[in-house]
Amino acid sequence: MLMGDISVAELLGRDTEPVYGPEAHGIIKDATVLVTGAGGSIGSEIGRQLRCLGAGNIVYVDNNEYNLYLLERELRGTAALTDDSIVLADVQNLNALSKVLADHRPELVFHAAAVKHLPLLERSPAIAILTNVLGTCNVASASAAHGVKRLVNVSTDKAANPTSILGMTKRLAEIVVRHFASREMLVASVRFGNVFNSRGSFVETFAWQIASGIPVTITDPAMTRYFMTIPQAAGLLIEAAVMANGGDTFILDMGESYSIVNLLQRYVTLSGAQKPKIVFTGARQGEKLHEQLFDGREVAHCTQHPAISRVTVSDGVSLQEIERLCLDAHHEVDFGVLRADLERLVAGDQDLRGRTSPRRYQRRPIRLHRLTRPRPPLGWRRPAPVTVGAEA
Ligand SMILES: NC(=O)c1ccc[n+]([C@@H]2O[C@H](COP(=O)([O-])OP(=O)(O)OC[C@H]3O[C@@H](n4cnc5c(N)ncnc54)[C@H](O)[C@@H]3O)[C@@H](O)[C@H]2O)c1
Repeated sequence: MLMGDISVAELLGRDTEPVYGPEAHGIIKDATVLVTGAGGSIGSEIGRQLRCLGAGNIVYVDNNEYNLYLLERELRGTAALTDDSIVLADVQNLNALSKVLADHRPELVFHAAAVKHLPLLERSPAIAILTNVLGTCNVASASAAHGVKRLVNVSTDKAANPTSILGMTKRLAEIVVRHFASREMLVASVRFGNVFNSRGSFVETFAWQIASGIPVTITDPAMTRYFMTIPQAAGLLIEAAVMANGGDTFILDMGESYSIVNLLQRYVTLSGAQKPKIVFTGARQGEKLHEQLFDGREVAHCTQHPAISRVTVSDGVSLQEIERLCLDAHHEVDFGVLRADLERLVAGDQDLRGRTSPRRYQRRPIRLHRLTRPRPPLGWRRPAPVTVGAEA
C-alpha cells in the first residue's frame, strides 16, 4: 500500500503479481543463498521470496547497519544482531566478501548492493564506480572463486544507452558479470524500470509532499518511466537465476511507460487528496525524459517466460580497462576525467556491439585484488603503537 487503501496495482492499472515460475522452487529449495544489499528495498524482498521458496540458509550482506537492524527485526522480531547470517560487509572489500563466501559456501548469489540516486552520483562518480563497478567485480570474482553456481546481478533500464554516471556504471557492471560467466557459474543481469515504492523513489517523495501540503515537484511535464513493483522485481531476479547462462541481461515486459504527471493525477484521484500544486523543476544532468529498455543495437530474444526478454551485452570492455577505471576512482582522479573515462568505455562498448561474438564460458584472469588494500596517502608513516583502554 502507498497511502490509505491505494494499492500499486490500482495505481498502475495492471497486474503486479510476482513473476517466477515453478522451476524457481527447484533451484532455491534447501539452497544456501547470499544476497548483497540485503537490507535495501529489493534485497530485503528477495530475502522474503527466498524464504517463501524454502531456501535452506540465507546470508544477508549489507554495509548499512541500520538496514541490517531493520532486517533482523523483520526476520526474528528482535534485533540482537548476533546471527552469523546477517553480515556487515562492504562489496568494495574483496577480502571481506571472500571470507563471507568461504564461511557460508552459497550456491546462489543475488547482487543488489548499489548506489542508485542519479543526481548524487553525477557529482560523486568515484563512489558510483567503486560501489557499482568494483563492487560487482568483487562479488563476481569472489563468487567464482568459492564455487557459486548461479549469480544474478541487479541492473537498471538506465544502463541502456546510458547518459548518466549511474547508467554507465550499471552498464559496466552488466559487462563485468558477463566476463565471469563460466560452465561452473551461470550468470545473469536483470534490467529494471522504476521500482514502485522502493526507498527514496519519487512516489515516496510525492506522497510525502502531498501529505505535507507542499507543492509536488516533477522535473518535466513530458517525463515518462517504466514501472514495476518490488515483489515483481524480486520475482524477476529469481526467475533470472533459473534462466542464467553466459551473462545475458533479462528484461521484464513492463507494459507501456507511464507519464509521471498522469500517475500523480491518478494517485490524487484514488487517495482523495486535495489536488496539489505542481512545480516543474527541469530535467537534471544525465536524466532522460524517456527511459529505454534496450540499446538501439541490442536485439531482444524471447525466453521461456512470456513476459521476459533477453539481450546479449557485448564484452567489448576488458577487465583490464575496468581495473584501470576502478584504480582511478580509488585514487580520486579528477571528476571530469572519471566521467570522460566512463563515457569512453561505454562508447567503445557500443561501437563494438554487434561485431563481437558472444564469448560464453570463458573466464578471464582478474587482478582487482590490488584494490582491496587502501593505499595510504602520500607522506603517510606507520604510527608508533600506542596502548588504549577499552573502546566506548
Ligand atoms: N529502486 C528502483 O527504482 C530501482 C530501479 C532499477 C534498478 N534498481 C537497482 O536495484 C538495486 C537495489 O536498489 P534498491 O532500490 O533496493 O536500493 P536500496 O538503496 O534500497 O538498497 C541498496 C542496498 O545496498 C546497500 N549498499 C550500498 N552500497 C553498498 C556497499 N558498498 N556494500 C554493501 N552494501 C551496500 C545499501 O545499504 C542498501 O541497503 C540497485 O542496483 C539499483 O540500481 C533499483
